[in-house]
Parts: sequence; C-alpha cells; structure tokens
Amino acid sequence: MGNGERGLLTTDVGLAARRLVGGGLVAVPTETVYGLGADADNARAVGRIFEVKGRPPGHPLIVHIAGVDGLAEWAATVPPAAAVLAEMCWPGPLTLLLARRQRVIDAVTGGRDTVGLRVPAHPLTLDLLRRTGRGLAAPSANRFGRVSPTTAAHVVADLGPLLEPATDAVLDGGPAAVGVESTIVDCTTDPPQLLRAGGIPTEDVERLLDLALEQAAGPSRAPGMLASHYAPAAEVVLVTDRRAADTMAGRLEATGGHVVVVHFGDDLVAYARHLYGLLRAADTAGASHVVAVVPPPRGLGHAVRDRLAKAAAPRP
Ligand code: TXA
Ligand code: MG
Repeated sequence: MGNGERGLLTTDVGLAARRLVGGGLVAVPTETVYGLGADADNARAVGRIFEVKGRPPGHPLIVHIAGVDGLAEWAATVPPAAAVLAEMCWPGPLTLLLARRQRVIDAVTGGRDTVGLRVPAHPLTLDLLRRTGRGLAAPSANRFGRVSPTTAAHVVADLGPLLEPATDAVLDGGPAAVGVESTIVDCTTDPPQLLRAGGIPTEDVERLLDLALEQAAGPSRAPGMLASHYAPAAEVVLVTDRRAADTMAGRLEATGGHVVVVHFGDDLVAYARHLYGLLRAADTAGASHVVAVVPPPRGLGHAVRDRLAKAAAPRP
C-alpha cells in the first residue's frame, strides 16, 4: 500500500462529507466512472480540480446533485424535454445541459451561460450528496487526456500523489457498473442535441423524447471533447471483426510488438464496463498495441465506438 493510498482511501461517507464541506477534494464512485469532486460553490476547491487533473481552465464541469428536486437550484429554466429526461433517467448516466442560474460560479461553467447537471446512480455518492446538501462539481478523476478511472485504485494510481491525505479523500464504492461516461444532451436548443454518447443509449433518449437526436457539431459545443482523448500509452488499432483482430495481432507480434486484443462479441454492456480497465491493464503490462474490435452502433456500442475512435486518434 502506497503512502497516499493509506490516507486517502475510505468507505466512510461521513468522513468524505466532512472533507468536502471543509473544502477538500473527494473522488467519488459513480455508475459511469469515478469523479474528482469539489463543493460546487467553493471556487478555491474547484480551482484545485483543474490543478490536480492538469486540465486546461475553461473546460466546464458537471455539477452532480442528489435528485430532480435540486434542478431549480442550478438551472434557470427547465424545458419540457429536460424535465422528461430527468424524471425518467435520474439517477442515471445522463447529463443535461441547461441555462445556468447566476449563482453557478464561472470556474464550474467555464464562463458559459449553461450548466451540466446529473444525478449519479451510486448509493455512496447519493448519500454524500444528501448529507452535505451541496452540489458536487466533478470531472472524471484522471489526469487530463488519460483514460477515465473505473475503480478507486485507478484514481489513486493517477492522482494519489497529488491529493492531500489529511484533507482530501477517495471514496471507494467498488468498480463502476456502466464503465463509460454519461450521455450528454444539450437541452438549451430545440430540439435538444446529443453532445456525447454515453451510458444511456442514444436510442433510449430518442424514444423518451420521440425524436431523432442530432449530434452537435464542432468541439466548441463541449470543450474538453478533443479528438485525441481517453488515450492509453499503447497505440490503439481498430478492426471490424475478430478475424481481422487476430490477423492484425499476428502481424504486429511478428515485428516484435506486445499486443492486447479487446473484443466482447455482442456483449456491449461488458464492453463498456471493461474497456477502460483493459486499456489501463495494457499499459501496466507494457503492451505496444491494443487491437480493438469495434462494436456495432447500437445501445452502449455508440459510446464504446466514440471512446475507441478517440483512443485511436493521432496524438498531439
Ligand atoms: O459520467 C460522467 O459524466 C463523469 C462522472 C464523474 O459524472 N464525468 C465526466 O466529466 O465525464 P468530464 O468533465 O470528464 O466530462 C464532462 C464533459 C466535458 O467534455 C465538458 O466540457 C462537458 O462535459 N461539459 C460540462 N459542462 C458543460 C457545459 N456547461 N457546456 C458544455 N460542455 C460541458
Ligand atoms: Mg473526462
């Protein structure tokens, strides 16, 4: 057990709540990925999130709240489509972009006039939110540009040395059940637009709204969604099926490569759940290449395809 690990890891929600209210950073489990949380009203604590992550300023943060009731505290208006989605999907892996109330600090919104809100489906984090009564500003708890963490151990491996054992905490809630980040829907436009495919399948959102979602154009719609993101150190090569994966792996190994093959057949839920852990494990094992079979574009397949494309994109 490392130095940071001993002081940081906890399953004690009361302790985590005291650290959060005291202005510390608390990494929290959610059903999607672990988040690095701060009291959303505390500009200093929110500022530290950017330092610890190495995240460029101006990239807005999602505010996590305890329930649908909290919407009005953060959003100026809640259009009917947003009300439907919140009612049907929360707690769950869906983030709604809404017009912000003035009280939401600029460090959280990146100075924009919108705020991203979500109710995470994890009992420990819901307990933390209810006990503190605070909004929790939290991006994924990884260093900027790296693979998101799906276990508390991933968080400690990435950020442990940068956190302060006496005042911060990593709340250990076990492995993330969904494994990819939330779906983000911009509800400030009519009709709403998809900003990021994620843990709630696009088809589910479309069914609830009874319309076809359009993917918002351009990276400026959601800063932080750069082409190369979610990248492991190993080079990621995408293939269409299992046979192509074996052929590619054989070719790379023939030239001295150390290859990890990722494929889950039709099990899209397992693919999403294990993808990030496998990318991390490939790096830990010193793999030179990850050869991944691209899943079909349905259900969680949309989110997996998006993350794989980003992991395989040319690095800056
Ligand atoms: O599942 C998730 O969404 C996880 C867990 C921890 O909740 N969080 C997460 O946060 O993935 P992050 O910061 O890694 O990704 C959130 C994305 C970023 O690309 C950010 O730019 C975008 O959401 N975003 C947040 N608020 C926004 C806003 N007001 N306007 C535009 N984009 C926003
Ligand atoms: Mg992230």
